[in-house]
Amino acid sequence: MVSPRSIIDRIFDESRRAREVIAPYINRTPVDKSTSFSRMVGCELYLKYENMQKTGAFKVRGALYKVSKLRGVVKGVVAASAGNHAQGVAYAASIFGLRSVIVMPRSASISKIEATKGYGAEVVLHGEVYDDAEREALRIARERGYEFVHAFDDIDVIAGQGTIGFEILEQVPDVDVVVVPIGGGGLISGIATVVKRLRPRTKVIGVEPENAPKMKRSIEAGHPVEVAVRPSIADGLLTRKPGRITYEVVSELVDDIVLVSEDEIAKAIYLLLERAKVLAEGAGAAALAALLSGRVRGVEGRRVLAIVSGGNIDLTALYRVLLRGLASAGRIARLRGVVPDTPGSLYRALEVIARHGANIVEVMHDRTDVRITPWHAAVDILLEVPSRSVLDRIVEELRRRGMKFEQR
Ligand SMILES: Cc1ncc(COP(=O)(O)O)c(C=O)c1O
Repeated sequence: MVSPRSIIDRIFDESRRAREVIAPYINRTPVDKSTSFSRMVGCELYLKYENMQKTGAFKVRGALYKVSKLRGVVKGVVAASAGNHAQGVAYAASIFGLRSVIVMPRSASISKIEATKGYGAEVVLHGEVYDDAEREALRIARERGYEFVHAFDDIDVIAGQGTIGFEILEQVPDVDVVVVPIGGGGLISGIATVVKRLRPRTKVIGVEPENAPKMKRSIEAGHPVEVAVRPSIADGLLTRKPGRITYEVVSELVDDIVLVSEDEIAKAIYLLLERAKVLAEGAGAAALAALLSGRVRGVEGRRVLAIVSGGNIDLTALYRVLLRGLASAGRIARLRGVVPDTPGSLYRALEVIARHGANIVEVMHDRTDVRITPWHAAVDILLEVPSRSVLDRIVEELRRRGMKFEQR
């Protein structure tokens, strides 16, 4: 059994080398101090934008370093992933002149499949879930003599992600707390290794969705355990079990792991877009979600950096997040009520709405609903509203005029 300390020493040394090897092919991503998020959390909050990385996520760092070492050793690489690892490996293979085969579950989105093919990979669709894809990827690797590139449980992959740690300490040298999302744990293992070695007093906090708390449960159990996962908007963090290496590194170096709800993640995506004009995917917004929801203790007045790890969100998922965000901010609302079934009644309701500056998206007028008073019609109106207080005023005026409407 190799000791965690010697694994960490190796990751640190490899990470220093990785910096030089991958520098020509990646972006040194920006760090920005966010005034409005700082105010909301009560700390000095910096965001590091790995969503602006090549391929739209940090994953390409680890993939590049791993694949750089395979140049001249194997003809090709194989990976199993429906997400950012797929694009990272495909991109890295194209840089270093290797063939790549990416096995994705059939459920992978068309946009991810097309993006991966766009980097020159051969995409194989196999099975329903990740595990089926991984089995097929290992079979193809054996059959063709290609190397299988693991998404997180690999010293070189972790070392590649660790290059973010060097950048963090250059960009915010006196950072007190770094908050990092955890999928399989490769990203946090790399960052924690570098940050703790160069600035041991900086705290490193991990974030997982409540729907996939594998690292937190494993640390509590004292060994890697498998958890049941439920769907999450942070699909990049939906791993059932930590890696052997990542578990060791995290249990040695990470100060705490907190969980975030689906609502908290969705809200963070929404706020990043609204306040910072930054598009993050669920996994990418999880660290900020943990801070905004007060789940990370002891950050008040401290210098805190959260990683925005990726921006590859499906547009239909984004659409749902926006609708939900707008609805909870009272910016779109559904009013349901009853009006007399006489000419002009609906008009009078709509006139009140228009006068308050709200915009009608959709109107449903139903005279056949047998649950309501005879000679009346049920009305359902979807509105865009300037603010929640305007909505309150609309409902109040409708009621004053004898039209009972409620917000749904
Ligand atoms: C955007 C994003 N953030 C975070 C993670 C988690 O990284 P790791 O599996 O190394 O913990 C992933 C993994 O795919 C990801 O795609």
